[in-house]
Amino acid sequence: MGVTGFLLCLFLLLHVSGNLLILLSPDLFNEYSFSLTHNKAFLYSAEGGLLAVFLIHIAVAIRLTLRNRMARPVRYQQKRSTGLSRRSWFSQNMIITGFFLLYFVVIHLLDFRFGEVKMTTIHGVAMRDLAASVFSEFHELEDTIFYVIAILVLMMHLVHGVRSAFATVGAEHPRYARPLKCLSYLFVIGVGCGFIIIPFWIHFFGA
Ligand code: HEM
Repeated sequence: MGVTGFLLCLFLLLHVSGNLLILLSPDLFNEYSFSLTHNKAFLYSAEGGLLAVFLIHIAVAIRLTLRNRMARPVRYQQKRSTGLSRRSWFSQNMIITGFFLLYFVVIHLLDFRFGEVKMTTIHGVAMRDLAASVFSEFHELEDTIFYVIAILVLMMHLVHGVRSAFATVGAEHPRYARPLKCLSYLFVIGVGCGFIIIPFWIHFFGA
């Protein structure tokens, strides 16, 4: 769970960094996407790897949830935090936020990966105009709101997920607990704000 979680966080970091280019220049964003996708062998192996990591993450999450439910069929009467525990509303609802994110990713892929293909030519090279697709998506208020909600849910999922991932890979020494907690929050806020600013900016200030 920890390893697949880390790999998915790495993907999110790369994805948000690449996406932010659209606010600098739509052409730069299209060129960046083109550089990642024009080599089909690279594209399909990266997508295959990502899909495998995603499926393993979901399968292990479902198995863990079922095992925990079977180990404690009667829920705790009182949930009291000791201060050391990572237990929180977020940790208790990982499976719910996770399933919402799965639903979001399917819609998201239908929007962009398998959505309408617009073309553009930059410096004489014909390529997909993904920036135009992103702009037309966030032109719509409902889509903008849907993305903002999805990113807030992603942040809820990551609050517990990132700290948990550190613990699963062994980085839980009490000495490092506080810096790792800060690092986790920094990551969640950085990635979350980076994603949210895109639909927000395009909807309200985009051309
Ligand atoms: C403002 C927010 C976002 C924007 C503008 C955005 C944009 C895009 C675009 C344009 C693509 C298509 C890339 C291509 O076909 O070459 C894509 C793919 C993808 N996005 Fe996002 N994305 C956003 C947020 C997210 C979030 C929050 C997640 C995960 C929870 C996510 C997961 C994915 C995945 C898994 C793919 C498929 C990658 C691939 O097949 O190469 N995206 N995104």
